[in-house]
Amino acid sequence: MALTIGVPKEVAAGERRVAVVPEVVRKFSSAGFEVLVEAGAGEEAYFTDDAFREAGARIGKGGEALGADIVLKVTPPSESEIGKMKSGSVLLGLLDPLGMPALSLKLASRSVTALSMELAPRISRAQKMDALSAMSSVAGYQAVLQAATALPRFFPLLTTAAGTVKPANVLVLGAGVAGLQAIATARRLGARVSAYDIRDAAQEEVRSLGAKFVELAFETQQDADTGGYATALTEEKAAQQTALLVPYIGAADVVISTALVPGRSAPVLITDEALQAMKPGSVVVDLAAAGGGNCTATKPGETVTVHGVRIFGPLDLPSEAPIDASAMYARTLFAVLAEFSDGETFRPDFDNEIFKGMCVTHEGQVVHERVRTLLDT
Ligand code: NAI
Repeated sequence: MALTIGVPKEVAAGERRVAVVPEVVRKFSSAGFEVLVEAGAGEEAYFTDDAFREAGARIGKGGEALGADIVLKVTPPSESEIGKMKSGSVLLGLLDPLGMPALSLKLASRSVTALSMELAPRISRAQKMDALSAMSSVAGYQAVLQAATALPRFFPLLTTAAGTVKPANVLVLGAGVAGLQAIATARRLGARVSAYDIRDAAQEEVRSLGAKFVELAFETQQDADTGGYATALTEEKAAQQTALLVPYIGAADVVISTALVPGRSAPVLITDEALQAMKPGSVVVDLAAAGGGNCTATKPGETVTVHGVRIFGPLDLPSEAPIDASAMYARTLFAVLAEFSDGETFRPDFDNEIFKGMCVTHEGQVVHERVRTLLDT
């Protein structure tokens, strides 16, 4: 018998994404699943119930969607949502198990097999399942648009009868997924872009996008074999780094910061001194706000002004582009389910590096080592 996939409406404040879009409902149907979408689940992302119906989904109540064999979510489920899930069901979502480990206990006590999309390993085989990278691309793009709108001047060089306008200087700190998308977007808007990252491998990528790489006179000892992630700096090195960055930050009209080391709080790169060096009217968009921020003045979810410099700490930029963000996210969910299910059975496979990496709870237990360690401490 076909497994039913349930898609409830997201309940988190400000969340506009939905875990499936009609295009992906069709893929699930062709793969043998039945899809049940809560009425109005796609409303905030402009996907109507009719569009889901036409794609082959059934429209039902929230409780029905949560009671399905497989539940697809964007954000972590609330307690009341977990209460409606059935024992032995499967949950896929951005569950934030390292930030909210206690939630895993609740999922385990309900005997839910929970796979957290954040934990998909960054290996080429799992690329199409990499929801975080997909969402970071959206965030990098949106961050630049937010900065461009807030900046009291133009991004591009303009030659007009009223004189020439110089292009804005944009500095991107952290050239991972979000950073590279921010670079590309700022370049398309005509800004002069430079970028910095502690990983040597980032240099070539930055330059290939037509941006200048900021080279700091400082040893970083970043190994290439950490899966594309940086390792944290010692306190002494971090202090050296922030001091060396001050003149570059001071020369920027816009700083987009995205620096992150998984499992650590965000490194501080923009100090009070660096903010003081910036011109009034300049803008900082700190994508690392949720992880504590790359800027000392960042307040998550708020905008702060320090001597005329505005510092934005957005938390859910993907919701600013809910159509594409939902579609990209839904495709990553499909890729995960296609790996472990044929539409009739779901096959947990702890010998599979992807499943083992993503599975947080199974058969009443918290099975993910890092989450277990967090719960024990
Ligand atoms: P990523 O891991 O691909 O990139 C982070 C980059 O920071 C890496 O290239 C790393 O080498 C670099 N980095 C780490 N420490 C550094 C340091 N001390 N100096 C310079 N560079 C350093 O991560 P991704 O996917 O690009 O995400 C970036 C940030 O954006 C994360 O904090 C993530 O949580 C956030 N994000 C925010 C969203 C929002 O709505 N605000 C949505 C999606 C992502």
